[in-house]
Amino acid sequence: MDLNTQRELIEGLLQFVTLVESERKLLAADLHDQTLSDLRELARLARRLFEKPEDAMSQEVRNGLAKLIFGIESAMDEVRRAMESLSPSALDTLGLVPAIESCLTRTSQSCERPFLTRFACPARMDDINFSETEQLLIYRIVQEALNNISKHASARFVEIVIVRESGGLLIRVSDDGRGMTPSGDLRRARGIENMRYRARLIGADLTWLKATGRRGTVVEVRMPIRGSGVGG
Ligand SMILES: Nc1ncnc2c1ncn2[C@@H]1O[C@H](COP(=O)(O)OP(=O)(O)OP(=O)(O)O)[C@@H](O)[C@H]1O
Ligand SMILES: [Mg+2]
Repeated sequence: MDLNTQRELIEGLLQFVTLVESERKLLAADLHDQTLSDLRELARLARRLFEKPEDAMSQEVRNGLAKLIFGIESAMDEVRRAMESLSPSALDTLGLVPAIESCLTRTSQSCERPFLTRFACPARMDDINFSETEQLLIYRIVQEALNNISKHASARFVEIVIVRESGGLLIRVSDDGRGMTPSGDLRRARGIENMRYRARLIGADLTWLKATGRRGTVVEVRMPIRGSGVGG
């Protein structure tokens, strides 16, 4: 395949990914406008009943209402989480770096055993102009690395560091969890395949390393910065 055909193919795939992402955004908006607002209405109704005078209902009914309110509020939290994962609002409002930081915090909070987190971005970002799709794909790659930590690592500490190195941006996600088996885990599993696919689309480089010391995994995402000097 010549270079032009390859470039056209990548362009086409990027357009497709942009389309899929805008569908996700619509889905998140539907969840917000329909599901979340229905649940909010139900919660309001249940709360109004709960606040009726003591002699208006038995203790059993009151306890049932309390459980109902709690259940609806948990469901609303779940819907909010799903919305955020479908279409990360922080990416639109705050930009890539704060969106990654917020994803790190959220992943820890939603973990059965929350882990300690550290986030550092000493890199200068003001001269980096990643396109919207590039930012989204970088975000998705980091999001899956964090999902994997939450699902598989049993980590106590997770760190994300973003630095500049030789004309590129390096995002390093490290955990101190159980570590990956070098051959087995990196084979054709879906999440890691998706990470690689997304990286290929934006010309990023992905590496999995064993953490120094005894435990843990390090995922490194290297993204070239076009048309800018080295530094930061
Ligand atoms: N940070 C990590 N610590 C320990 N094991 C990991 C880590 N990241 C990935 N793995 C291992 O690598 C395997 C492959 O990950 P991958 O994301 O491809 O699949 P998955 O998470 O099992 O499923 P999916 O992502 O499709 O929901 C995992 O099943 C897990 O065993
Ligand atoms: Mg996974």
